[in-house]
Amino acid sequence: MTYRSVTSTRPAPVRVGLIGAGWMGAFHAHSLALRIPGTDLTAIADPAADPAEALAAELGVARVTADPADLAADPDIDAVVIAGPARFHAELAIAAARAGKHVFCEKPASVDLEEFARVEEAVADAGVHWQIGFNRRYAADFLAARRDVAAGVVGTPQLLRSLTRDPGTGHLPNAERIAPWTIFLETLIHDFDALNWFNAGAEPVSVYAVADALVEPELKDAGLLDTAVVTVRYDNGAIAVAEASFSALYGYDVRGEVFGSAGMVQAGRSTETAAVRSTAEGRAAATPRLNVDLFVDAYTAELADFAEHVRARRDGGPAPDHDVALTPGPADARRALAVARACIASVQAGGPVAVEGSTAGGTSVPDGTATVTGAGR
Ligand SMILES: NC(=O)c1ccc[n+]([C@@H]2O[C@H](COP(=O)([O-])OP(=O)(O)OC[C@H]3O[C@@H](n4cnc5c(N)ncnc54)[C@H](O)[C@@H]3O)[C@@H](O)[C@H]2O)c1
Repeated sequence: MTYRSVTSTRPAPVRVGLIGAGWMGAFHAHSLALRIPGTDLTAIADPAADPAEALAAELGVARVTADPADLAADPDIDAVVIAGPARFHAELAIAAARAGKHVFCEKPASVDLEEFARVEEAVADAGVHWQIGFNRRYAADFLAARRDVAAGVVGTPQLLRSLTRDPGTGHLPNAERIAPWTIFLETLIHDFDALNWFNAGAEPVSVYAVADALVEPELKDAGLLDTAVVTVRYDNGAIAVAEASFSALYGYDVRGEVFGSAGMVQAGRSTETAAVRSTAEGRAAATPRLNVDLFVDAYTAELADFAEHVRARRDGGPAPDHDVALTPGPADARRALAVARACIASVQAGGPVAVEGSTAGGTSVPDGTATVTGAGR
């Protein structure tokens, strides 16, 4: 045997425990195990044993548990990725932070602002890195648009828009699994962050949300709103519009736009690839169908960025240095959640409301705007 022994300079892998092995969690598990160098999917926690064990078997993960507390207590885990149902995010993040684990949390950070304040407190007390899954920031086209805004390409932002149309069939087959107000708390929250991020440095002051059940009208009485348009006013004067639908028959449609005094930038890929078919009938192109197809790179990049932050904290190195504000942290999560909560209050009030935490209070927002604080769920 003539092998020589070489001392590795490669950093130890970032060891991650996954909490919630459903649709999004399984995708993140694949990223951690297969797509991102330097990360190790160490354990999976999910009360549903079968899908968790199947995922663990597929990815070679030895530790599976029904109880997320096992991950918090595991000294071999540096960080957790939370991808369970939204209503559990805050308590899961608090438990992980108190155990000294860094946290990547799928959106929303919480379903309630007061509850999220407790997350922020726990994270600050523990000194851990906490990041939210606002993946659009990591999509190449959204990031290019944001860089243009930072470089002054659009001048002063005046009008912004963002939309999310989820792929659908014209019906909502799993409607009973959709919690009330999901359209604001889990869908449009991406758009609210995109708008806030594009309109950097400005605070959302008031919102006027109009929502209805246009896909499944008979579910409206049960509280399932599937279609919404929101106007957001910012303290720099900019006006933004966000809209969402739960059922676009042509696929997954996500776009963003900033219009300003000097120009406009747009983001959003409407075709699956750059290929366009031209025939006697005209021109056609395939459309993206699933979030995990449209955002495969963005979902991977956000977790790679998270791992870099965790490694920096754990090993004492410099945090990742991005040329524009990128990594979404607690303040970004709070700002987007405040807009989502204000939307709920706006629908309930039937008019515009102030965004909680905005410096405008109830006075400098447009006439007729009610101030809503601590809006109920
Ligand atoms: N960023 C995005 O684009 C995106 C896309 C889809 C979903 N999400 C978010 O990801 C989260 C999960 O959504 P999903 O579509 O994967 O849902 P899902 O229902 O497919 O999966 C949720 C999983 O969590 C498990 N679970 C239930 N209670 C739990 C608990 N107390 N602790 C741990 N796990 C628990 C369930 O058994 C299930 O396996 C949601 O917050 C959703 O908003 C984000």
